Amino acid sequence: MAWRDTETDKVTSTNIRTRVGIVGAGPAGLLLARMLQLEGIDSVILERRSRAYVLSRVRAGVLEKGTVDTLIAVGAGERLLREGMPNKDVQLRWDGVCHRVSTVDENGRHLTTYGQAKIVEDLIRLREGDGLPIHFEAQVDRFEDITGNPVIHFSEGGVAKALHCDFIAGCDGFRGVSRAHIPGADAASFLREYPFSWFGILAEAAPNPALRGFAHSRRGMAIASARSDKISRLYLQVAPDFKVDQMDDEAIWDELDRRFVDGTSNRFNRGPIIEKSVARLRGFICTEMQYGKLCIAGDAAHIVPPSGAKGLNSAVGDVRVMAATITRYLKEGDSTLLENYSATCLRRIVPTVHWSCEMSDTLHMFPGQSEFDTRMQYAKLDSWVSSPGGQQRFREAMLGQPYPI
Ligand code: APR
Repeated sequence: MAWRDTETDKVTSTNIRTRVGIVGAGPAGLLLARMLQLEGIDSVILERRSRAYVLSRVRAGVLEKGTVDTLIAVGAGERLLREGMPNKDVQLRWDGVCHRVSTVDENGRHLTTYGQAKIVEDLIRLREGDGLPIHFEAQVDRFEDITGNPVIHFSEGGVAKALHCDFIAGCDGFRGVSRAHIPGADAASFLREYPFSWFGILAEAAPNPALRGFAHSRRGMAIASARSDKISRLYLQVAPDFKVDQMDDEAIWDELDRRFVDGTSNRFNRGPIIEKSVARLRGFICTEMQYGKLCIAGDAAHIVPPSGAKGLNSAVGDVRVMAATITRYLKEGDSTLLENYSATCLRRIVPTVHWSCEMSDTLHMFPGQSEFDTRMQYAKLDSWVSSPGGQQRFREAMLGQPYPI
């Protein structure tokens, strides 16, 4: 939508106007845009990467029931309902034995496996199908007048542009620009770097249902999951300086078999490895998530070690709060939710980050770890499997915290 410049009385495409400027076309930004659209609130999404890049990103896809219900409620559930795979128990291996924990609660709630790239694609298709703007390859540089009449300055096609809006939604991930515009964010940010990384593997190999879930191994943790009935998603704990081409395919499959050893003859189905990546494990929380008419959500505000598969699910919780906050502020002039935005989101974020860190502390081998420490990890794992209270806690944590809104 072009914006008429009152001084020059010129309609220029370098100045555009909308109600909410959204930085980032990841799950958080795209879901927020959809929720605002359903409230009749216009938004513009500015995304620095290309459309092809955004759609190509491979990320975990274990969805809480709340995430599934939220996507269905905004009209993005058709393919999810068709292709999502119910995920009703978790396999935990330690000390050479495989255990199963049900993740179905007394109300029948369970997890669903559905790739995050599909969620992003479903939301992009909905938005483009309605002819609504997503500016790809639009790099946001800075914000201006956040407490008054916000302006988002960005560059697109080498041209400096400005998006004039009533509200800024910072959905631009851990390395975005939004968090830096919140005074005091650094002092309100808390980080834990783990002394190891994850080696992520995508393989054209049919997942073996007898070999999935989490494996605690003295060689390092390993995870196996199904992306589809033909694609396996696998992870190995590696040293922080591990290089992605350090192991050939056969060595990777051998290592996975060694870490998933459980006294049976079960072995991984092997196939070509089509994607490899290495990511450092960290836990991060910024407790200042709002300033003036700027709110941040998802990875822009917190990072969870992927052990608990909570990254996307925690972003959905934030976006539900932000959508209600913006709607009430813009439609009713009520700033109550805005003033309490951080506290409301943190009620769900802090226990979620804590759970992801607890899973990481229990499943990984730490440098110099003593035999005593290993036995205490076994005790924690056993509590999730054998004690009714431990099983309940594990199930509740895996199924996700209740939404504050
Ligand atoms: N200008 C424009 N876009 C930006 C900028 C910028 N300056 N900085 C970052 N972005 C974009 C990134 O290119 C990315 O597409 O913001 C988007 C942020 O998306 P995610 O990193 O996916 O974060 P989020 O939407 O919060 O998703 C949280 O989903 O993607 C996973 O690992 C993530 O599990 C987490 C969850």
